[in-house]
Amino acid sequence: MNPRTALVTGGTGGIGTAIVRYLARQGHRVATNYRDEARAQAWRARMAAEGIDVCMVPGDVADPGSAEAMIRAMERDCGPVDILVNNAGITRDSTFHKMDYQQWSEVVNTNLNACFNVTRPVIEGMRARRWGRIVQISSINGQKGQYGQANYAAAKAGMHGFTISLAQENAKFGITVNTVSPGYVATDMVMAVPEEVREKIVAQIPIGRLGKPEEIAHAVAFFTTDEASWITGTNLAINGGHYMGW
Ligand code: CAA
Repeated sequence: MNPRTALVTGGTGGIGTAIVRYLARQGHRVATNYRDEARAQAWRARMAAEGIDVCMVPGDVADPGSAEAMIRAMERDCGPVDILVNNAGITRDSTFHKMDYQQWSEVVNTNLNACFNVTRPVIEGMRARRWGRIVQISSINGQKGQYGQANYAAAKAGMHGFTISLAQENAKFGITVNTVSPGYVATDMVMAVPEEVREKIVAQIPIGRLGKPEEIAHAVAFFTTDEASWITGTNLAINGGHYMGW
């Protein structure tokens, strides 16, 4: 395995932390962004206690200027980004007839527009160096839709449209671009769903349980290997059998 610099956006979150941990244990230098200094430092200390030194740079992926400044600082402090995992994401669940523009735009900006904001400043370097791995963390709900998530499902489906276009444009440059679509994973985001609603959702999962963040991280790490160089433009569903598209 060749050690690389990997940027995992939203690395301090549930799935993000597992991806950071997994890539770091494979020997990569791992970086993430943060918005809240105190929370970020507490998280960084927890990772350091596990022996993982994470390069942390302030930046809001939903804001193009902030994201570009973050990438430039990261390149300076941690080296050029070879592996990018567009993982940062939020929910603002509401049935559409009650949804306001803020709930719509916050989700689209953080989950989808961030793919532009963060990938645009790294893509030219990857093309020049003729190697790159980009992974979008989408969602089962971008594939099947979800009651109460018109904003989130639209953004998550859009992420895979981004993947398959970028995959075509950059294939000749040694860059692969793929999507991982997690189902319901035991993170704070999913635990925020009202319990009675969540129980009904879990009952629909053939494997009969929520996913574990490490199960998503394992798949992300697979896409970032040298050996996965012929896999591009794919969407890997990891959802306990909850949605079996093909
Ligand atoms: N299918 C059909 N009807 C449904 C439904 C469903 N899946 N979910 C709710 N309803 C119905 C209820 O039964 C209720 O019907 P009645 O009015 O006839 O009793 C009605 O919808 C309630 O509608 P309201 O608009 O009044 O609902 P609300 O404002 O109380 O909350 C909600 C609606 C916010 C969508 C809430 O149901 C909810 O949080 N649902 C979970 C959404 C979800 O799965 N989010 C995933 C978050 S995790 C994540 O996003 C990670 C990932 O990638 C998987």
